[in-house]
Amino acid sequence: MRKSIIARRMLSASILLLVCILLLDTRPGTASETSLLDTIKNVDEPFDDRSVSQVRPIVQPTVLAGEEYQGGSFRVLARKQDIERYKCSSCHTAKEVRGKNAFELTHGNVAINHGQEGSALSCIDCHHPEEFDFLEDKKGRKIDFDHSYQLCGQCHFRQKRDWLGGAHGKRVSYWAGDRVIFNCTTCHDPHAPKFAKRFPATYSVPLN
Ligand code: HEC
Ligand code: HEC
Ligand code: HEC
Ligand code: HEC
Repeated sequence: MRKSIIARRMLSASILLLVCILLLDTRPGTASETSLLDTIKNVDEPFDDRSVSQVRPIVQPTVLAGEEYQGGSFRVLARKQDIERYKCSSCHTAKEVRGKNAFELTHGNVAINHGQEGSALSCIDCHHPEEFDFLEDKKGRKIDFDHSYQLCGQCHFRQKRDWLGGAHGKRVSYWAGDRVIFNCTTCHDPHAPKFAKRFPATYSVPLN
């Protein structure tokens, strides 16, 4: 009987002691430590992902885009090295090319399927009518083949805006290093830009 009262007194005393310890422990040490948020706010230099070296270096040729992305520059995959008939001026000189089926023989594989139903775009809607080494914008200015996104963006401004922001198209590398993205014509054939419908390459096998 007496033993249990002592035990109970000791229990309540130790609880009181514990409460006192918890109340008194204001931990002055931790209060003066800076929080993670403050550490981030107080860094001298803003974080620059371009200063982080790329794990996989980009091997394809690239060009500096003539546009801005979040106030900075970025690069796009170049195109000229992949254009079979470039340089066009090796044939398209000031002298007129003559010959039977000359167009058929040289450009027979260019079939236009681009534009409104029933009124396809014509060659000089995009190509410079005199200097064939260039494309041409609506104001008659030359566009380099490596910057064909400028041509497409005149008519497809919504897709171009999405492409600039990263919602349409694809980044070549991961997040680190220079931002390098695919050109419009890396993916789309400018003469027939619509992708053909196709079945998925992989599919789920039905479970039964
Ligand atoms: C092997 C020679 C050759 C090369 C290289 C070549 N072309 Fe041509 N191209 C021709 C011939 C021949 C014609 C048909 C005759 C003509 O219209 O001058 C033609 C016609 C064209 C036309 C139609 C012209 C019109 O008035 O209707 C376009 C557009 C064109 N070429 C664009 C290009 C572009 C762009 C390149 C480079 C990417 C290129 N060609 C490279 C030979 C060539
Ligand atoms: C919608 C714009 C557009 C139209 C219309 C267009 N082209 Fe092109 N063409 C391009 C672009 C952009 C390229 C470069 C593609 C690339 O980056 O691979 C190109 C590339 C070419 C090439 C080089 C292809 C190669 O790999 O050798 C030839 C030749 C050519 N065009 C001829 C023509 C002819 C001829 C016509 C008309 C019958 C025509 N194009 C209509 C935009 C256009
Ligand atoms: C002169 C204006 C013009 C230019 C330049 C142009 N396009 Fe088009 N494009 C059109 C029109 C018009 C259509 C058909 C209407 C539509 O479907 O939006 C079309 C259709 C398309 C489509 C199919 C749209 C769909 O609904 O599936 C794609 C993809 C496309 N263009 C990509 C390109 C690319 C890539 C370039 C640059 C190489 C380009 N276009 C340059 C006017 C243009
Ligand atoms: C990484 C590849 C890739 C790049 C780069 C790319 N596209 Fe596309 N684009 C696609 C795919 C995939 C679709 C969807 C096609 C479908 O639904 O059949 C598409 C669809 C489109 C369409 C049809 C309308 C729509 O929004 O679905 C247009 C127009 C178009 N792209 C224009 C452009 C232009 C202009 C650029 C460059 C500024 C560009 N694309 C860059 C892959 C690409």
